[in-house]
Amino acid sequence: MNVYDSARMADVLAPLGYGLTDDPSDADMVILNTCHIREKASEKVFSELGRLRRMREDREARGAGRMILGVAGCVAQAEGDHILDRAPFVDLVLGPQAYHRLPEMVARLSRAGDAQIDTEFPAEPKFDHLPAPGARGPAAFLAIQEGCDRFCTFCVVPYTRGAEYSRPVTDILDEARALVARGTLEITLLGQNVNAYHGAGPDGATWSLGRLIRALADIDGLARLRYTTSHPRDVDDDLIAAHAEVPTLMPFLHLPLQSGADRVLKAMNRGHTLADFRRVVARLRDARPDLALSSDFIVGFPGETDREFQDTLDAVDDIGFIQAYSFKYSARPGTPAAALPAQVPEPVKAERLARLQDLLNAQQVAFNRRCEGLDMDVLLDRIGKHPGQLVGRSPFMQPVHVMAPAPLQGTIQRVRIDQGQPNSLAGRLLPAEDDHPPAERATA
Ligand code: 5AD
Ligand code: SF4
Repeated sequence: MNVYDSARMADVLAPLGYGLTDDPSDADMVILNTCHIREKASEKVFSELGRLRRMREDREARGAGRMILGVAGCVAQAEGDHILDRAPFVDLVLGPQAYHRLPEMVARLSRAGDAQIDTEFPAEPKFDHLPAPGARGPAAFLAIQEGCDRFCTFCVVPYTRGAEYSRPVTDILDEARALVARGTLEITLLGQNVNAYHGAGPDGATWSLGRLIRALADIDGLARLRYTTSHPRDVDDDLIAAHAEVPTLMPFLHLPLQSGADRVLKAMNRGHTLADFRRVVARLRDARPDLALSSDFIVGFPGETDREFQDTLDAVDDIGFIQAYSFKYSARPGTPAAALPAQVPEPVKAERLARLQDLLNAQQVAFNRRCEGLDMDVLLDRIGKHPGQLVGRSPFMQPVHVMAPAPLQGTIQRVRIDQGQPNSLAGRLLPAEDDHPPAERATA
């Protein structure tokens, strides 16, 4: 979501004459778009700000002009003007719901000179005030939903991103068409709890994510659709049916489980048991037999016992994930779990994380190996490190390295997978005129 938000901030600033640069040391403005989800991400903001401050001083010493320094995103939302206590040299502090007001803030800053802070949750959603997106490349994000009403006891999102909001269908379709018109082939629909989507449709009805996906699939030239991040509780019948019916909906789904122990799931307020999760997965796999799963896990949630951690390992072993993110529980200020008495000691968390990651890595490597010999459609979206190489993504989001002529960047090509490596695949282009047998299916 932060990648999407950053691109939208650039869209908003473009009419003021700002363009993107890869080199912050010579930028007129640097905005750190921040994440509050775990303490480590949050703390990094201040070391980064120190580094940027030195860059700004060097730039000003060269006589290259002033650099505006901003902090956006969820750390800005959570800390507000406390950011200025720790980093008084910051010019702009703005929360995730305020970035459409950047032009105003910049104008006030240049008039008044003192720091501008905006962490309001405005009555009118920012989406109503954003220009059409600029070119995003072959694979793009599109936010359809924001915020969360689920209140998992470990999570800051409901506080920093606010209450759940679904964008109207027409706005989403317009943004998707604008992206496709500028060369985008694959769109990932975004939301903190994306499958809670319930937006106003042009027919006056409330649309579910499944219905929205069907409408998006009708856009000419849109070859692939994905959505992230979903909550197991909000996977409804219609969404499962969309997985069966919409071929452009890719067979890869990120579905966070967090823990394999029912007591922990309950303490996390996830609202489902392990058996519920398994049922959802079974139904999704019935609908789309080649569906592969990714997930999120937290180890060392307060009170988690060895046995409960073992339940997580057993669940992973059994369900099978081709990729996953796993984290040590991080106590976040203001969340209910942070106040629980039985916090798990750091070394125990570290040991559990290492064991879980070993298992998850082994599953990822095994899946990548199973892909050897298969033919896959690969969206070649970027230039590789080696001359003559392009890198793309498989239907399952694996990076795929291929020797391919540069003009094929931004196209989907048929690729024979020769090698499955721990974090990526390597393959070769199949000639376009080849008559391929139907896609062989990889299963997780
Ligand atoms: N500690 C550790 N991990 C967390 N996540 C969210 N909050 C915390 C926390 N306090 C993880 C969850 C979530 C992902 C985005 O980040 O696994 O799914
Ligand atoms: Fe956080 Fe996701 Fe739970 Fe919402 S559903 S509170 S975003 S972990």
